[in-house]
Amino acid sequence: MCGITGYVGCRDASPILIEGLKKLEYRGYDSAGIALLNGSDMEVVKKKGRVNVLESELGKHPFCARLGISHTRWATHGAVTDQNAHPHVSSDGNFALVHNGIVENYEDIKKFCQSQGYTFKSQTDSEVLVNLIAYHYEKRTDPNLPNRFLEAVRKALVHVEGTYGIAVISRFHPDQIVAARKGSPLLIGIGNSERLVASDVLGFAGRANNVIYLEDEQIALVTKDNCDIVTICNKQIDFEVKSIDWDLENADMCGFSSYMEKEIFEQPKSIENAIRGRISSDASTAVLSGLNMTPTELRQIDRILFCACGTAWHACLVAEYLIEKYARIPVDVEYASEFRYRNIPVHKNTLVIVISQSGETIDTLEALRESKRKGFRTLAITNSVGSTISRESDGGLYQYAGKEVGVASTKAFTSQVTICLLLALYLARMRDMSFSDGKRIVEAIKSAPEAVAKTLELAPRIKEIAKKYAKYKDFLFLGRLCEFPLALEGALKLKEISYIHAEGYPAAEMKHGPIALVSPDCPSVIFATSDEIYSKLLSNAQEIKARNGKIIAITDNPEIFSASVDDIIALPRVDASIKHIVAAVPAQLFAYYVARELGCDVDKPRNLAKAVTVE
Ligand code: F6R
Repeated sequence: MCGITGYVGCRDASPILIEGLKKLEYRGYDSAGIALLNGSDMEVVKKKGRVNVLESELGKHPFCARLGISHTRWATHGAVTDQNAHPHVSSDGNFALVHNGIVENYEDIKKFCQSQGYTFKSQTDSEVLVNLIAYHYEKRTDPNLPNRFLEAVRKALVHVEGTYGIAVISRFHPDQIVAARKGSPLLIGIGNSERLVASDVLGFAGRANNVIYLEDEQIALVTKDNCDIVTICNKQIDFEVKSIDWDLENADMCGFSSYMEKEIFEQPKSIENAIRGRISSDASTAVLSGLNMTPTELRQIDRILFCACGTAWHACLVAEYLIEKYARIPVDVEYASEFRYRNIPVHKNTLVIVISQSGETIDTLEALRESKRKGFRTLAITNSVGSTISRESDGGLYQYAGKEVGVASTKAFTSQVTICLLLALYLARMRDMSFSDGKRIVEAIKSAPEAVAKTLELAPRIKEIAKKYAKYKDFLFLGRLCEFPLALEGALKLKEISYIHAEGYPAAEMKHGPIALVSPDCPSVIFATSDEIYSKLLSNAQEIKARNGKIIAITDNPEIFSASVDDIIALPRVDASIKHIVAAVPAQLFAYYVARELGCDVDKPRNLAKAVTVE
């Protein structure tokens, strides 16, 4: 939520900051702004709307500067207006700040600052930070202190409850950016006589090859040649510099008309990346060294608790089916946001696994931290290399899906469920699964990229179907067993990018309520690939038809369903163990083409942001 960039160096800061902001727009796109410093002259431009609106506004105010900060906002406190856009400037005009996070005690801080004569222009929680910093600079720091700016920020942050990633500049220190983090990611990129600050490596736009990941409660003083980091308790930090693998971060559209389309079509490759080096055909099992657990430790696990949010939570539900079916280990799945506050009883030999594409979702991160505080062994499945969740978990598996930029998660989902299948296989082969069953699943996993590539060939047919159905305002998505999470995910995709109301339900549960919605105006999408229950799903389809409901079936058995449904998306026949990977794809394409038909901005759906770093 919210993207921050900062630059200090020898070049014109403004185009570099705008370039970085464009790469970070997936984090929020309600408004954007920039603050530039040239000596003690500060220029601030901020506008409601996307980064290109800011860019054209900047064209009207050319201002050459070698240092600046910028922001793209996802609104939390205060409406989407120019006034509430970042950067915020202290009322004495000496400091400018960009913020990602939520200041929970902002009302108290605001009252305090007002009592000290500072005034406010916005309704945001963020503006209190910049005035508090100005106050500490003016009243609470020694003018002779060499790092006076850093110290003022540090002293101010001691009073802040909540989360922040901030970058601050000051008219008194035209060669310094102070950056700090608690709960919201912030990185410092190291270039040649230049330093960049960003919420994500993408914000460096390929300009830095090395990076410092700030940890919580660390504050950095950044100049073009240096970086000093202290903790909020004023302890000097020896930080680690890591190199950036730009191949993994490649985020160009490669000729597709949107990131979402590109990412849907990348799935054969992203699934292949999830599998690469993780299969032993000889042993008929998976090879998952990232878990950092010995086979003996893994055998002692007698319960697994998965935690995640949104699409990643749907991947956890798939994992529940797979692990219980193959490895016979009981699995619970919790929303990360609920887990942190519920204090649920957890059995002592429980392994906690969190799934997060971004590796920065605050609820998932806090669920992980709470699990660690309780002494549980934790694992993370994440896509973002070096993300906070991947760094804080005891072990984990990277997805290697490549950067997912489209706000609606697609390739990350299929990659997560592929990794969960590998995990199920690995755990199962340590327990009761035979060599020959393991071999069948290994062969199936190896064939998954090809099967998904074949499924993608259905795109033109799915596009036609989407055109036909784009006029409807409500949809039901139905599936059973492993396809129930796919129904939830299909409904989520449709609602988030096309703003059509859609509900995912277990197919048989429909009779217990949702069937009331069935009418010629509410089509149903039925997932039907489970051999064991074709006949049951057929009955569900008949029940819908009897009420004049329209049906699209996503099935690998078109012969059985063709007489009972209106439209069929006929999947390639694959082994049962990978059906859920293949069947996820048509629902993504359906949502995508419906949204395009309605003229929606699929990569930046309204009200959403890619990484949810506020509660
Ligand atoms: C939906 C979507 C979200 C994310 C959720 C968790 O398309 O992308 O529901 O899945 O916000 O995000 P991560 O996986 O980054 O923790």
